[in-house]
Amino acid sequence: MSAYERVNTGPAIFQLGIPAFDGLEKLFARARSSNLLKAGSFSSLIYPDPRGEYEMRREIAGYLSISRNLHCLPEQVFITSGYSSGLGLALRVLGLDGKKVWMEEPGFFLTRKGLELARLNVIPIPVDAEGLNVDYGIEKAADAALAVLTPGQQAPLGSTLSLRRRLQLLEWAVSNDAWIIEDDYLSELQLEGRAAPALASLDEGKRVIHIGSFSKTVSPGLRLGFVVAPTELITAFSEVATTLAPAPSPVIQLATAQFMREGHYIRRVRRLKRLYVAQRDALCEQLRMHDAEWVKAGLAVLLRLPDGAPDVQIVREAMTFGMAPSPLSAWFATPSRSSSGLLLGVATASEPYLATSCHRLFEIIGRYCEPGVRGVT
Ligand SMILES: Cc1ncc(COP(=O)(O)O)c(C=O)c1O
Repeated sequence: MSAYERVNTGPAIFQLGIPAFDGLEKLFARARSSNLLKAGSFSSLIYPDPRGEYEMRREIAGYLSISRNLHCLPEQVFITSGYSSGLGLALRVLGLDGKKVWMEEPGFFLTRKGLELARLNVIPIPVDAEGLNVDYGIEKAADAALAVLTPGQQAPLGSTLSLRRRLQLLEWAVSNDAWIIEDDYLSELQLEGRAAPALASLDEGKRVIHIGSFSKTVSPGLRLGFVVAPTELITAFSEVATTLAPAPSPVIQLATAQFMREGHYIRRVRRLKRLYVAQRDALCEQLRMHDAEWVKAGLAVLLRLPDGAPDVQIVREAMTFGMAPSPLSAWFATPSRSSSGLLLGVATASEPYLATSCHRLFEIIGRYCEPGVRGVT
């Protein structure tokens, strides 16, 4: 399946990576009725700022300092069309062709593909309950020029990079002149307690390029995200943004800036958290009734399958019933027999369909994993 096909499906029950629609009607209605969409930005005859609208950059800097403990100047913020385009921008700026890069194993398949397309030599680094195993990285490839990771909530297993590992990673980057790309795709959308501060908040603006996205907190349809560049790289980011990767339409930026300024953004994130916790608890209850075992994994619940179970085939069959869990093995560069499992997204597990969907899913699993599956933690 192509990278495009892997993300361009659904929405379906248990699908990962897309938010609940809940409350979005109001946002879109506001944007439609907003004066911004009626005239303003459309009628401007000059080119917009390729780094992004200043108002939007200022809103993001303010938001990051409150919610991610990341203090930066609006001048460090570059507006992009989501995480993927932020990654492309950052890789252009760094120009690391042929160099080694650490990447989480398992990790986000589009990041892996993007790094390969940028001609980097991807070194898979295992993750555990403390996040990326930095010791392993140093032992395998201390000379890497870059590490790309999801420190807030590891994608897909959900662990948070521990403070010990954060300090170790930053120390490695400083002493090896290496860069770190922090993929903060979930921002503060953490279901368990308060979200850990951004890794970049410990770095004093030196080695960490922080990338954020509005795809999970508002909608992937916005195609909106941002990069916070270390101060040393501001000029290089400005040049690449101007020539190769200008910010998306000012209309959508200004509508979103207004949404943030008026407090709707923070309220939406809080509402989503409450909704997802309720949906996740209902899902776990269903799994309990099916006598399965599972682990919570960020915005998903991971149902492990017996070693060697064909998780990709199971998902293919589930898709014909309108369900789209993600096969765990597909997140590995080199899947093994023990990397079989199903990631059940909680954002799309809305309660009215839950019981029947779970019932059907276990029927399908049962056919592939006789004499009946027991998820194992
Ligand atoms: C790990 C990870 N990073 C980033 C993103 C978001 O990317 P984008 O902002 O391009 O939609 C996703 C979406 O599924 C993801 O899983």
